[in-house]
Amino acid sequence: MIALGCDHGGYVLKKEVIKYLEERGIEYKDFGCYDEKSVDYPQYGKAVAHAVADGECEKGIIICGTGIGISIAANKVKGVRAALCTNCFMAEATRQHNDANVLAMGARVIGPGLALKIVDTFLNTEFSNDERHIRRINQIEEGI
Ligand code: RB5
Repeated sequence: MIALGCDHGGYVLKKEVIKYLEERGIEYKDFGCYDEKSVDYPQYGKAVAHAVADGECEKGIIICGTGIGISIAANKVKGVRAALCTNCFMAEATRQHNDANVLAMGARVIGPGLALKIVDTFLNTEFSNDERHIRRINQIEEGI
């Protein structure tokens, strides 16, 4: 189950992501927003982050105008590793190295064609399980 969330800036791209998921029979839960009326991105980033952290959803995809604000908000939730990706190399590397569990994208930064390739890469790349990457992820979780 994939958790989805966006603000008004990401709403149109989220609809494209939903189409992508539906065409592939991938289940999702949409945490809003549900139209292009101006809203506050933190609540949608955090809703997705909690769904992932609580185990309700396996991964999340969050979208705002830049992808920055919503990823900052999601990363406040313990256990969430939200990665803002603008290309497929980043999406692949963040799965392999960081075991990122939430993908963030900026709808005002990248177009829908690239965004869906990034989604595809993110959802289909496994974590490497390398000891050094596990160690580094554990260091992130330890906090300061
Ligand atoms: C909304 O105008 C915009 O600030 C938001 O979508 C996002 O880019 C914030 O980081």
